Amino acid sequence: MGYKFKGVFETMRSLTNILVTGGAGFIGCNFIRFLFEKVEGFNGRLINLDALTYAGNRMSLADIEAKYKGRYFFEHGDICDRVFVESLFAKYEIDTVVHFAAESHVDRSILGPEAFVKTNVMGTFTLLDVAHNAWKNNPRQDTLFHHVSTDEVFGSLGETGYFTETTPYDPRSPYSASKAASDHLAMAYNHTYGLPVTLSNCSNNYGPYQFPEKLIPLMILNMLEGKPLPVYGDGKNIRDWLYVEDHNAAVWTIMRNGKTGETYNIGGENEWENIKLLNVLIDIVCAKAVLDPAKVRGTLSYVKDRPGHDRRYAIDCSKLKRELDWKQIVSFEEGLSRTVDWYLANPQWIESIRSGEYQKWVQKNYGERG
Ligand code: NAD
Ligand code: DAU
Repeated sequence: MGYKFKGVFETMRSLTNILVTGGAGFIGCNFIRFLFEKVEGFNGRLINLDALTYAGNRMSLADIEAKYKGRYFFEHGDICDRVFVESLFAKYEIDTVVHFAAESHVDRSILGPEAFVKTNVMGTFTLLDVAHNAWKNNPRQDTLFHHVSTDEVFGSLGETGYFTETTPYDPRSPYSASKAASDHLAMAYNHTYGLPVTLSNCSNNYGPYQFPEKLIPLMILNMLEGKPLPVYGDGKNIRDWLYVEDHNAAVWTIMRNGKTGETYNIGGENEWENIKLLNVLIDIVCAKAVLDPAKVRGTLSYVKDRPGHDRRYAIDCSKLKRELDWKQIVSFEEGLSRTVDWYLANPQWIESIRSGEYQKWVQKNYGERG
């Protein structure tokens, strides 16, 4: 199915030579796939800049690399490496940045916050500063820096209420603090230097190619392998789940028609207590993989809570719906079903990302520089 976007390419922005950072990760690789395969009329070039950390997997886009030669380029490098980033702006005449690259896992940020500050704060700063210097004398005014961020910057909600675009920032983990800092830098570059920035804060994504440390893929794989299902705390923390393709459609909508200097909330309007979600997921996985749901339920195991675990996230995305005519189109039932099907059909991807096999694959196919 092709996505039709209203007024395709009526925008001033050329969105032609697009630097996608973190395009080998979960959301970024789905974004690249989405633009090439689902967006009617898209004929730009995508340059994927990724450091291939544990979370980045070049194999996720192996078919795209083969199919879109001349329009898709992979560049192995670190967003903190200013000289390398500058060279990419010159080499590809970058007019657009969509910035996904980040350290993204809250638990890891608790164990080792430094990488989060480096990549999320310094890396974002480096990209903003290079973009500013490359574009400041550009008379065409057709450039854009879209910064991809999270609802976690808003902190934690009680039983009622929603995060809106005007909710004060209140980050509570090293991950969310580093993302909050990056958001402030992005908006400061807009306010101070006039860099054309749009920013989105999204709720929890799920779907194909998600690294199996995040709740949904971790639980799917543990169920299939008969391992315990570790539920943090009382299992009643609430997240607002959105299928990754709906997130990427929202990002593209904002890139095309969003106002610079503005932020947009993106959410699923789909709140679930973790334990309730797991019970639904158990039924789906057991039906597809022919497992006994009672036996799998028996592996649910309440474990020590995540330190500082935010209780509830819930997004009010009415601004995006009202102003830019976006809406979610994949129901939770459909999205979970597609996700489970994908993990069942892709054991090699799972094996490769877990074993580090993809690193060997990259070296074999592309040499040391990748
Ligand atoms: P991910 O961890 O799956 O992927 C991150 C990618 O960034 C990887 O390919 C990794 O190799 C790359 N990367 C990391 N450090 C880098 C560096 N220094 N230089 C270049 N590349 C580097 O993350 P994700 O879940 O796809 O998240 C993408 C973005 O979306 C992040 O900015 C995250 O904060 C945001 N976000 C994620 C969610 C979610 O539910 N996953 C929700 C809202 C917002
Ligand atoms: O809200 C957006 C954020 O969603 C993104 O910015 C982050 O990059 C992304 O990782 C995600 O953060 P969460 O911490 O919400 O996601 P995670 O999958 O780690 O956990 C979801 C919920 O499940 C959370 O309440 C913690 C709980 N959990 C998680 C794991 C991994 C468990 O109970 N057991 C687990 O083993």
